[in-house]
Amino acid sequence: MDAPAVDSARIAQAVEVLKQGGLVAVPTETVYGLAADAANEAAVRAIFTAKGRPADHPVIVHVADASAIDDWAREVPDSARALAAAFWPGPLTLVLKRSPRALDVVTGGQDTVGLRCPAHPWARALLQAFGGALAAPSANRFGHLSPTTADHVRADLGEKPAGAVDLILDGGACPVGIESTIVDLSGAQPTLLRPGSITRLDLEQALGAPVAEPGGDAPRAPGRLERHYAPRTPLEVVPVDRLGSRLAALFHLRVAVLAPAAVLQTLRAQPAVQMSAPEDPVAYARDLYANLHELDHAAADRIVVSAPPAGTEWTAIHDRLRRAQAGSRRR
Ligand code: TXA
Ligand code: MG
Repeated sequence: MDAPAVDSARIAQAVEVLKQGGLVAVPTETVYGLAADAANEAAVRAIFTAKGRPADHPVIVHVADASAIDDWAREVPDSARALAAAFWPGPLTLVLKRSPRALDVVTGGQDTVGLRCPAHPWARALLQAFGGALAAPSANRFGHLSPTTADHVRADLGEKPAGAVDLILDGGACPVGIESTIVDLSGAQPTLLRPGSITRLDLEQALGAPVAEPGGDAPRAPGRLERHYAPRTPLEVVPVDRLGSRLAALFHLRVAVLAPAAVLQTLRAQPAVQMSAPEDPVAYARDLYANLHELDHAAADRIVVSAPPAGTEWTAIHDRLRRAQAGSRRR
């Protein structure tokens, strides 16, 4: 499934929309973003309205390259330059002390700003053609699953005139599939705020220094709220050795199961809906939200996910599944 080649006429159209304060859904390597001109307060406000997101939540500023760090941040530590050199463009967000350029509406009124230089060819083309920075959260309604295809964005937010987005750029399915790793470099010690495909170990190796797990006084990051990234159908994660007995206990429900093919084959009773999950963590992450979107539309009473293996390469996946479970219960 190759990504569609960048269409420069569509990019030019998107730049016009952004210059007029409009909203553009743009593919990044992680998930689709809902982008607005980061320097236009009203445009950034429109993102919150479109998402139904509380106004005090900060949004990530997407930049064309690392030279923009000093425009948006102050007192930039060497660790930020080292991580940008190692991982940008790519799925890593750096939280730094903000510069005056970073508007309150972007930072949620905090003294920090999140910066990321995305690697996806469509996002890069848009940033280069636009010339400024783009404020962009994931292009989903608040609390919903993140979108990894243009169709996910269309289904959740919609395109104008009926929907909330002025223009949706279709750059194919996002290759990483889960949101960027977020590391906070504004304090005394680098702190991991959100795990992603770049692992804590990757960061520690690039820094030659330890990276802390978040403590109680870490900055507010809604991505860390348990109820994020949730399907509408109640979802539970079940250890693989208890999958059969759990499905037997749920016999009266229409259940949709996500598990590796080898695990599905061991089940004695076939679930109403089943989907085979990749056994490799990179492919599992790439397909995760598309799989959950599809299971969520299978008219099931329950989604049951076979717990992936332990191991650091699965950490971000466990994190997203835990949130999906917690969020779907609260609905
Ligand atoms: O991969 C990604 O990061 C995607 C793509 C579109 O770039 N974006 C994304 O944005 O996931 P969003 O808004 O859905 O999640 C960003 C997370 C939020 O939990 C937000 O609170 C946190 O980053 N964040 C942004 N700025 C922050 C800051 N200054 N301090 C702490 N957390 C921050
Ligand atoms: Mg999000």
